[in-house]
Amino acid sequence: MTRILILDGHPDPDPARYCHALAASYAQGAAGTGHVIHRTNLSDLDFPDLRSRSDWEEGPTPAAILALQDQLAWAEHIVIVYPLWLGGMPARLKALLEQAFRPAFAFGGKAVSPGGGKLKGRSARIVVTMGMPAAAYRVFYFAHSLRSLKRNILALVGIGPVRDTIIGAVETRSDESRKRCLQRLRRMGEQAA
Ligand SMILES: Cc1cc2nc3c(=O)[nH]c(=O)nc-3n(C[C@H](O)[C@H](O)[C@H](O)COP(=O)(O)O)c2cc1C
Repeated sequence: MTRILILDGHPDPDPARYCHALAASYAQGAAGTGHVIHRTNLSDLDFPDLRSRSDWEEGPTPAAILALQDQLAWAEHIVIVYPLWLGGMPARLKALLEQAFRPAFAFGGKAVSPGGGKLKGRSARIVVTMGMPAAAYRVFYFAHSLRSLKRNILALVGIGPVRDTIIGAVETRSDESRKRCLQRLRRMGEQAA
């Protein structure tokens, strides 16, 4: 039994967004096999952008961010689902990570010391959807922003191993193909993978 935090990183609350269905499928699979899940939707969270180093290091942490930090510390496995926007994660999701991964919490002190904080040892799965085919993102763009999330953000706070699922051509897939992707996410949830 694994404690899983599912962070639905789509900024848009519209239930028609495919990322929400993917997060829900993972959650159903995980809960159905006895894993303990907590789902947090970025679109529900109210928090300001960070604007200075002093805010990052010493500023008051907004209530929504404190709650997320508790969930991150609680989890053994973290699933982040988001759409590719202008080549990377949506700005609002980046803003959330900047807020949550404050030095005292994520690095164990003021200095940025990799893996020194409360997140060390957690595994993760990144699920990213996009308009272009997945192969184009991997081969032509070297999955650049995904690598950045893995290496410059998650590895830095000690999260690993990190696996990924790229779901491309989202807007042109058939309903059948979209359903197959949902089933794939459900199986991942069953395995807490
Ligand atoms: C603001 C914005 C920027 C986007 N930028 C890209 C992009 O750079 N590359 C890409 O392949 N698709 C891009 N897309 C398409 C989205 O990735 C795609 O619509 C999304 O993954 C579909 O999932 P959803 O239904 O959960 O929104 C963009 C969409 C929006 C709204």
